[in-house]
Amino acid sequence: MPRVKTGIEGFDDLVDGGVIKGEVILLAGTTGSGKTIFSTQFIYNGVTRYGEKGVYATFEEDEASLQRNMLKLGMDLKKLEKTGRIKVVGLQAMKEAGLNANLDYILETVRELKADRLVIDSITALFMGTGEQFEYRTLMHLFYKILKKIGCTTIMTCSIPAGSATLGLGIEEFIADSVIILENVLAGAELKTRFLIRKMRGTSHSRTYHDVLIGERGLKIVPFSTM
Ligand SMILES: Nc1ncnc2c1ncn2[C@@H]1O[C@H](COP(=O)(O)OP(=O)(O)O)[C@@H](O)[C@H]1O
Ligand SMILES: [Mg+2]
Repeated sequence: MPRVKTGIEGFDDLVDGGVIKGEVILLAGTTGSGKTIFSTQFIYNGVTRYGEKGVYATFEEDEASLQRNMLKLGMDLKKLEKTGRIKVVGLQAMKEAGLNANLDYILETVRELKADRLVIDSITALFMGTGEQFEYRTLMHLFYKILKKIGCTTIMTCSIPAGSATLGLGIEEFIADSVIILENVLAGAELKTRFLIRKMRGTSHSRTYHDVLIGERGLKIVPFSTM
């Protein structure tokens, strides 16, 4: 099975060298746990290191805020957009349009760019943002099927409410292929972020917690430390 490198330091080696091409990966985590940084690095590295084009659909924060925050970590998305190899799309401009139109817009953008990678940050915000009422399970199922069909290697993020149990996301049973979890935990007086691969189909993956370090050069995964 062809694999795709994320280029995220410490990650690819934990999953047989990369994620399976065309897979849909659920990246679930509490707020501030690094979901957006992880996802942006996936897209950014895809273009700059592996010649893969990417679409980043941002629904948690607007495009300007994403661009500003990622620039601080050395990722100039604006500049990259000008090369025509990535596209950042947001919900802001189309709040009135409804979920269906938003999905169409994402898929259209993927098709136009001939994107290899796609991020949806987050499905929680995408589903809630339009204010429509949905049956969540049915919607998840449908959405997942669509994403698999378009063939991009996709990361969709999902917000977990702080304090909820990590294992047993509720929806993960429907997103059977791959689930990665990021969570903020208190270690003494320090807030740490840890990382766990809950499942990854067709992959002999790491089954232990790792630490997540975020610094000026972005996010990396390092061995778990009890310090
Ligand atoms: N320049 C930086 N240096 C160190 N840590 C940073 C920097 N920028 C962001 N962070 C950390 O990353 C976190 C936000 O990551 P983000 O990917 O936006 O989280 P999420 O999308 O899961 O809410 C912040 O709470 C902060 O701890
Ligand atoms: Mg975020």
